[in-house]
Amino acid sequence: MRLASASIRAIKYLSFATMAHPGQTRADRSRFSMHHPMSLDLAVAASPIPANTESNLTDRCDRLQAPPLSLYIHIPWCLRKCPYCDFNSHTASESLPEKRYIRALLADLDQDLALVGNRELRSIFIGGGTPSLFGAKSIAELLVGVRARLNGAADMEITLEANPGTVESGKFEAFRAAGVNRLSIGVQSFNNAHLRALGRIHDGDQARVAAQAARTAGFVNFNLDLMFGLPRQRIEEALTDVQTAIGLGPTHLSLYQLTLEPNTLFHRHPPRLPAEETVWRMQRKCQALLAERGYAQYEISAYARFGRRCAHNLNYWRFGDYLGIGAGAHGKITDLKRQAIKRLWKVKHPRHYLETAGTPESLGGAAAVPKTDLPLEFLMNHLRLREGFAAGDFGKRTGLAFAVLEPKLSACVERGLLERRNGHIRCTDDGWNFLDNILEEFVSEASSP
Ligand SMILES: C[S@@+](CC[C@H](N)C(=O)[O-])C[C@H]1O[C@@H](n2cnc3c(N)ncnc32)[C@H](O)[C@@H]1O
Ligand code: SF4
Repeated sequence: MRLASASIRAIKYLSFATMAHPGQTRADRSRFSMHHPMSLDLAVAASPIPANTESNLTDRCDRLQAPPLSLYIHIPWCLRKCPYCDFNSHTASESLPEKRYIRALLADLDQDLALVGNRELRSIFIGGGTPSLFGAKSIAELLVGVRARLNGAADMEITLEANPGTVESGKFEAFRAAGVNRLSIGVQSFNNAHLRALGRIHDGDQARVAAQAARTAGFVNFNLDLMFGLPRQRIEEALTDVQTAIGLGPTHLSLYQLTLEPNTLFHRHPPRLPAEETVWRMQRKCQALLAERGYAQYEISAYARFGRRCAHNLNYWRFGDYLGIGAGAHGKITDLKRQAIKRLWKVKHPRHYLETAGTPESLGGAAAVPKTDLPLEFLMNHLRLREGFAAGDFGKRTGLAFAVLEPKLSACVERGLLERRNGHIRCTDDGWNFLDNILEEFVSEASSP
C-alpha cells in the first residue's frame, strides 16, 4: 500500500519526537523503519477502520501519571556544517559566546522550572551542534547551575556529544571532572575517503584517538555514532567501520543509515549512494556482526552492551518527559493538573536565543498535544524499541484508555506485524522492518493537514 500523502505529512510533522535526540531541532526524521528495499510486500492493507476523534476519546480516558524526567541542553555551533546535517547547528565564528550562552541556558532553565516543580531529574544530554567545542569550565558551570536548580538522581546519566576534530588532549579528563559520565562521539566512519565525502573535519585516525582518549580519561561508558549507506560505500567497508568501532570498546553504538534531509547540501546536490538492496544487505550484515560481538540491538539504530542502553534516549522512546533548553530545543511535559501533555520549543537562531533567553520571547511556541495524536505519538516512540511496551503504560503516559488502540492493534497482530504476550505489545521482526506501515494505521483524521 502506498501511504496517502496526508498521512506521510502527519507522520513527518509528529516525527521530531522520535529522533535520537528529540530535544534537538532536526527538522524531520521521517523513516521509522529500518531500511528495507521491499517495503511494499508486507504492507498493511488500506484500513477501513475509522479513526478516533476528539469527542469519542473524551469518554475513554485513563489517568495521566508523571513519567521520568530528563533534560536536553542544545549547543548550536560546529566548526563546519556537514553537508548531510539538518540539525540546528551553525558554523562557529572565531570566538564563541560561551559564557553568555551558559548564562542564557540557566536563565532558560529558570523559566522552565515551574513546569516540573520538584520532580527528580533522571538524565541530562548535552547535544548539538558540537558541545565539545565548549571548554570544560563552561560545562562545569552549566552542570553546577543545573544541579542547583533541579534535584538530580544519584545515578543520573550525563552525556556530552563530542566531535573527534574538537578534542585536544586533556579535554575528556576535564569533562569528566566537570561531572559528565558518558560521551557520545560522532565518528561516522573510519575510512578517510568516506569522511572526506561527508565533509567531516577529522580523519579516521583522529576518530580512533578520540575513542581511545575517552577510555584513558576514565569513561567506562561511551557511545560511537556511525553512519552507513555512505556515498559509494561497499558492504565490506561498512563492516570494517563497525569492526573498527567494536575494537575500540564502546559500551554503545548508534548506527544510522545516511538519509538525504531537506535543507541540506546533499539534498540539493545528491551524492551517489549505494543501491537500496546493497544498503539493506549492509545493514543486515552489520547487525549480525554487532549481535555476534555482544551488542544487543534495542532500538532501530541503537546497540548496547548489557546494562548500557542510553537512559536518556530510552526515556524519549518510552514517552517520558523532558525539558529542552538552548536554541531551538524542544521539551515535552505532562501537566497532571490539566491532564494534558504539552510540547514547547525555544527560538531557533542562536543570536535570537541569546537575546531573549529567560524571557517569554525565547519561547518559539507551545501547544498541548491533541488527544487524537497521542496514540500515534506514543506508538511511534515505543515501537522503535525491541521491548515494545506494557499495555498498562499506555494509559499512564497518554491519559487514554488502552481500548482506543483497538481494533487497529488487533488488526496489526493478525497481520503478523505486532505481537501481544502477557500484557506486553511489541513489533514482530516484520513489524520492526515495516514500522511505517503500522504507524500509518494510527494516523488520525484529525492530525492530517
Ligand atoms: C548532533 S550529531 C553528533 C555530534 C557531533 N555533532 C558530530 O557530528 O560529531 C548526531 C548524529 O546524527 C547522525 N546524523 C546526522 N545527520 C544525519 C543524516 N542525514 N543521516 C543519518 N544520520 C545523521 C550522525 O551520526 C551524528 O553523529
Ligand atoms: S558536526 Fe555534527 S551537528 Fe555539526 S554539522 Fe556535522 S553532523 Fe551536524
